Amino acid sequence: METVLSGIRPTGNLHLGNYFGAVKNFVKMQHENRCFFFIADYHSLTTHPHPDNLQQSVKQILVEYLACGIDPQTATLYVQSDIPETVELYLFLNMNAYLGELERCASFKDKVRQQPNNVNAGLLTYPTLMAADILIHNADKVPVGKDQEQHLEMTRTFANRFNKTYGVNYFKEPKAYNFNQDLIKIPGLDGSTKMGKSTGNAIYLIDEPEVIRKKIMKAKTDMGPTMENQQRPQEIINLFTIMEQVSSPDTFQYFNDAYNNCSIRYGDMKKQLAEDVIHFCEPIRARMLEIASNNEYLQKIRKIGAEKAHESAQKTIREVRKIIGF
Ligand code: TYM
Repeated sequence: METVLSGIRPTGNLHLGNYFGAVKNFVKMQHENRCFFFIADYHSLTTHPHPDNLQQSVKQILVEYLACGIDPQTATLYVQSDIPETVELYLFLNMNAYLGELERCASFKDKVRQQPNNVNAGLLTYPTLMAADILIHNADKVPVGKDQEQHLEMTRTFANRFNKTYGVNYFKEPKAYNFNQDLIKIPGLDGSTKMGKSTGNAIYLIDEPEVIRKKIMKAKTDMGPTMENQQRPQEIINLFTIMEQVSSPDTFQYFNDAYNNCSIRYGDMKKQLAEDVIHFCEPIRARMLEIASNNEYLQKIRKIGAEKAHESAQKTIREVRKIIGF
């Protein structure tokens, strides 16, 4: 049985990118594997140093995970800060992580550009904390979106370096996973290649139907194709990429052909896309509303998750301490 782990930062509601990048694959794998799904609240401190709403955000993500179909009976659903062993492993891994490789990490460079006045050490060592999350359960597979590929590469580097340094074969080489397909990147509605939590270009699973309709009808498009089979601009590729995930293959084919023979009407395509996104999100939203008010249930899930994750993490940290010589 393989160990599968996935995680998300509690910095906003789940959007379609989160779902198709990380959650969907995890849900598909949860019954055949040893599965951990966690809420990365420590990670959120790298960009939100004053987390006034931390507990509320953690609760919201817990609700959203459950509504997406994560089964807390089979998978271990937990909150990162409930497992302080992760922090100890983070410290050990940091001792063998080098400034140059951390500075070269694409997500670090992005953050330096985005928040030049808050380039903290937590941002720099974000990949070692992420490696600690993964290695604390010695995961084999990590369902993530394309943006996390480099972090997974770094996790393998840290795992191998640990093994080499101490002359052991302890950590496995975890792989970013999407059922033998390329990792996915869901684009934004504004023509950019990535749907993001704070970029204003996202459709959230919790969005009401009318909100979804408005967002999609406003999505960026061009003047329309003028030549058969012509190359598509990014904003049009984006609409088709989202459609490929939420609509039926026939619908996708219909609009794809319409684009290629220049008969497409973007208004029709957007209307169809909006209805298909709504059809996809509605049951999830309904479950969210149902679960959100049940604090007792949520607290119980969190407690059980923490206990299960703790057991696995304690075993790892005990063995790692021994290997290092403590
Ligand atoms: P976060 O919170 O940014 O995103 C959570 C997951 O959603 C995926 N994702 C996307 N996938 C496809 N298209 C998109 N537009 C899109 N946007 C987000 C991300 O790839 C991710 O899988 N560093 C992680 C959290 C984390 C983690 C871990 C993940 C911390 N430790 C250990 C896995 C394993 C992050 O920032 O995710």
